[in-house]
Amino acid sequence: MIKYFKEHKLFKIDTLNTTYAFKVVYDKYVSHLYYGKKIANEIKLNEMYNEVPISFAAYPKDIGVDFSLETILTELSFFDNGDIKDVAIKTEYNGSCVTQFEYKDFKIYDGRVVFDDMPYSRNGDKSLEIIYFDKISKIELHSYYVVYYDTDTIVRFIKFINNGSENITLRKAMSMQLDLPTSDYNFGYLVGEYYNERNYLENPINVGKQSIYSKRGHSSHHFNPFAMLKSVGSTETLGDVYGVEFVYSGDFVISVEKTLSKKARLSVGLNDETFSWLLLPNEEFFTPEVIMTYSANGVGQLSRNFHDHLRNNIINPNFVNKKRPIVINSWEATHFDIDEQILIEYAESAKTTGIDTLVIDDGWFGLRNSDNSSLGDWYVNKEKFPNGLKAFSEKIHNLGLNLGIWIEPEMISPDSNLYRKHPEWALGDINRERLLSRKQLVLDLCNDEAINCVAKQIIDTLKDVKLEYIKWDFNRSLSNAYSMALPIERQGEVKHRFQLGSYKLHKILTQAFPDVLFEGCCGGGGRFDAGILFYCPQIWTSDNTDPIDRLKIQYGTNLAYPLSTISAHVSKTKNNDIETDLDIGLRFAVASCGILGYELDLRKFSNKTKQQLLNLNSLYSEIAELIINGDLYRDDNMISVVSKDKKFAYIVFFNFTNSSQFNLYNLGLDKDINYIDTLSGKMLKELLNCNKSFDVKETYKLLLLKEE
Ligand code: GLA
Repeated sequence: MIKYFKEHKLFKIDTLNTTYAFKVVYDKYVSHLYYGKKIANEIKLNEMYNEVPISFAAYPKDIGVDFSLETILTELSFFDNGDIKDVAIKTEYNGSCVTQFEYKDFKIYDGRVVFDDMPYSRNGDKSLEIIYFDKISKIELHSYYVVYYDTDTIVRFIKFINNGSENITLRKAMSMQLDLPTSDYNFGYLVGEYYNERNYLENPINVGKQSIYSKRGHSSHHFNPFAMLKSVGSTETLGDVYGVEFVYSGDFVISVEKTLSKKARLSVGLNDETFSWLLLPNEEFFTPEVIMTYSANGVGQLSRNFHDHLRNNIINPNFVNKKRPIVINSWEATHFDIDEQILIEYAESAKTTGIDTLVIDDGWFGLRNSDNSSLGDWYVNKEKFPNGLKAFSEKIHNLGLNLGIWIEPEMISPDSNLYRKHPEWALGDINRERLLSRKQLVLDLCNDEAINCVAKQIIDTLKDVKLEYIKWDFNRSLSNAYSMALPIERQGEVKHRFQLGSYKLHKILTQAFPDVLFEGCCGGGGRFDAGILFYCPQIWTSDNTDPIDRLKIQYGTNLAYPLSTISAHVSKTKNNDIETDLDIGLRFAVASCGILGYELDLRKFSNKTKQQLLNLNSLYSEIAELIINGDLYRDDNMISVVSKDKKFAYIVFFNFTNSSQFNLYNLGLDKDINYIDTLSGKMLKELLNCNKSFDVKETYKLLLLKEE
């Protein structure tokens, strides 16, 4: 799995289908050799090392003019040390940012280093640790490669240790770099905005640099910390594709650079524009990790690698395979207009439909009747819940439903008791203007007192309430990031420390409610990332639930994240206000390709529609296991989820023209299995074996296939 070939000073990392290799040259530099389809022969790998002299390049005197760090492929690159491309690491020592790390040693061991303050991939088959050092500052840099053999994934991150006697400052600390010898790739990534998250975009990489990033203090609606390099011409099922996914929820940057000599470099890590870190003697600093994968069989396989990796290693093992609730959430139907009576009527109208959990969304706490107050005051609003939440929960459970509740713990309203008591707990310099967004400020999570105070309030309010689900929201981006809790010389650390504080709060609350399923949310889907998935097994995907828009948003999302994480509700949208306009079937078809729920005022619905919901929810219960565990296959307007043993599959076709031809070839089915579509009673052998297509005239069609 990880081998060191001493004669070539060559490291070879193998997963089930891939090989990754690099070697030490001139005893001090680490040169990347290869990442791609599995290669058995290390001699062949060794021959891939290539030095290309160019004019104007800087070279070390003891090696000579033919060698340059500008032209060899490297595993990591260091600021102002011969490589003028976009480098991975920049440190400041004694006023200078010249960064010179040299190879020192390596370690290979079982398992992996575990993080205690950040999300990470659990398990890990084997680890390789490459140790670099800087002779002058005495900083050590450990670059990690953790192998997940079966999923073809390698996790990468870096640790710095200050072994010297002087302070140093980390100015740029990427988690990984991948140099590729050629550059015929398209850069694929997810862009969006509120109400329109994660649209897939792809463009050829050009000479120069392109990046996607966040500076918003959350991974953001605008870019997602996921990207691909796709060989030109690759498709869903064919071609070389490299993918990276950052296990982090704050400011990030993923950049790709192409050189004139047609090489490519992909880098992933903390956004250096909003990051610096003072490292005192004897201190350590870990970067967040990146999950990296390669598929020789197109984007579909790359997605499945990520899905399996996230399910096996990132999502809380106590929940990953657990049946998820089918919720009815109050937000889209009533917004802040909630109280005990309305919600009980809600629950009563839902209980015959197969919905199993009522979620009280925003508006249950403090004096919260609109979005202009009370964040930070996490006690129940007695006017709305005169008997308290415990008694309310008992009533809901007596009706046969479970209960969920909404919180937004990382925020503070200027109109709140908490703010009146602690204005210095809001992020921003108290002497400057602090900009509002959604009428709120952000709690300074660099401050442990603020974290503990909010956590305690929430725990005290909810600890005696029978609850099965918590929706954790985050409704604005960070601005004016200054912490009153940090000294002047640490203000460059605010963004990352805020993120570590957010993870601390996630840890405290998820540990306080170990049996509760947490769902992440961020003004729709503005924080959909592997970091949040470590604490919240599912995430609200977008406030936009229009089925056509959602198809695009969910497609982008499932490129990187498994269906079991994609929370998808049937609700009215802006143009659809009344029951008759709601094509519930189509909305269900889209939402069923994720974790199904509802946001509708069912009190207004006819018994006929409620019966339709019951039928749809029964169907969903049958496929729920596939959504949680299955393998995803995509084709134009088709989604298929197939069980690992191939005997069970759920397929949805969408047809937005009058009639479309579909076939079943690329949907992950096994030609040797006789499938029956249990919804129509039809056998599918012929369709699967005789290159036949079939016509769909309806807007959507569902197939539920089982082995005959
Ligand atoms: C965000 C969420 C919504 C809802 C509101 C409540 O916008 O995306 O689903 O919870 O906040 O304020």
